[in-house]
Amino acid sequence: MRRRSFVHLALLAAVIAAAATAVAVAIPWLPVSASKEREGIDLTYWLATGIGIMIFAIVAAAILYSVWRFRVHPDDDRDGPPIHGHTGLEIVWTAIPTALVTAIAIVSAIVLHDNGDFGKNPLRVKVTAEQFTWVFTYENGPAKGIVSPDLYLPVDKVAKLEIETRDVLHSFWVPEFGQKQDAVPGRVNPLKITPTRVTGLKNPYPVICTELCGLGHALMRRNAYVLTSADFKAWAQHAKGPAGATGATGATGATGATGASNGKAIFTANNCQSCHTLTAAGATAKVGPDLDKLPAEAQKAGQPLEQFVHTSIVDPNAYIEPTCPSGACPKGVMPPNFGQVIKPADLDTLVQFLVQSSKGGGK
Ligand code: CUA
Repeated sequence: MRRRSFVHLALLAAVIAAAATAVAVAIPWLPVSASKEREGIDLTYWLATGIGIMIFAIVAAAILYSVWRFRVHPDDDRDGPPIHGHTGLEIVWTAIPTALVTAIAIVSAIVLHDNGDFGKNPLRVKVTAEQFTWVFTYENGPAKGIVSPDLYLPVDKVAKLEIETRDVLHSFWVPEFGQKQDAVPGRVNPLKITPTRVTGLKNPYPVICTELCGLGHALMRRNAYVLTSADFKAWAQHAKGPAGATGATGATGATGATGASNGKAIFTANNCQSCHTLTAAGATAKVGPDLDKLPAEAQKAGQPLEQFVHTSIVDPNAYIEPTCPSGACPKGVMPPNFGQVIKPADLDTLVQFLVQSSKGGGK
């Protein structure tokens, strides 16, 4: 009789485990894995998921079996039998979870250690978070000196991202690479990434801010490109320009393969739309001044329009427009480094684009 109960319980648990496994495996819960570090993270994920499925199956089977097997008659108002516990069972249900949690802790510790080991000569990239965009500064390798609004990495090479912030808390996350890392004022937080899949310039991964950092948080996104070693060198060469000048607009389309650059693409490539409204660029954010109203704002500032636009980009704190779409304009929020991030030629194009499209009155 007792043996038959165990057989029933085991069968029920096996069915539940199979169903839960099907849900875990058949549905693609995770983004594609694109870094060595992600492989270790996925291993701990699947280990914990497997343990979770096992425990769920045992507990659910015991509950369902009890409901079915020990059900009393609806008219039975007697108390249940008094139970004084079962020492052996209690030892077992304490020992097994302890062993499982210890196993997860050991695997996690190994993965964390590996994912924090940068090796001898990583590609170092300073990652600066700011309301509401990212800036990537290359500190060594063929791209040394380049300042880019997007992240470019060579495949199969260890990259050490040194993450910092210019203002508030942000958090760096590329889902395909696996790990998040906070950007904390006054600290430099490292993150190791060894990309394993080439994206090329067409299908980049998103760089996401995953810490609520203000009005433009949801739009604080950039691109992460993984290139072959040769393409990475070519990109670095192109971004540095013939004179070796620093400042890159990247290959997001602003100065893409065609070589044609236009103001709207530069506007988008530098994430201006995460803070500003500009009808000509389809931008509707309400953090900073309304760029459809630039002529009126220049008049208020007492400056010629073109000069006003140029100064506002390279030295944003020189003059703060008083009125923004959502109230008073925030002071010191516009990143002060666009003068370095945007190439001089692109800056001129962007200024002309803003002057022309705002003169159109936002049509
Ligand atoms: Cu930066 Cu959210």
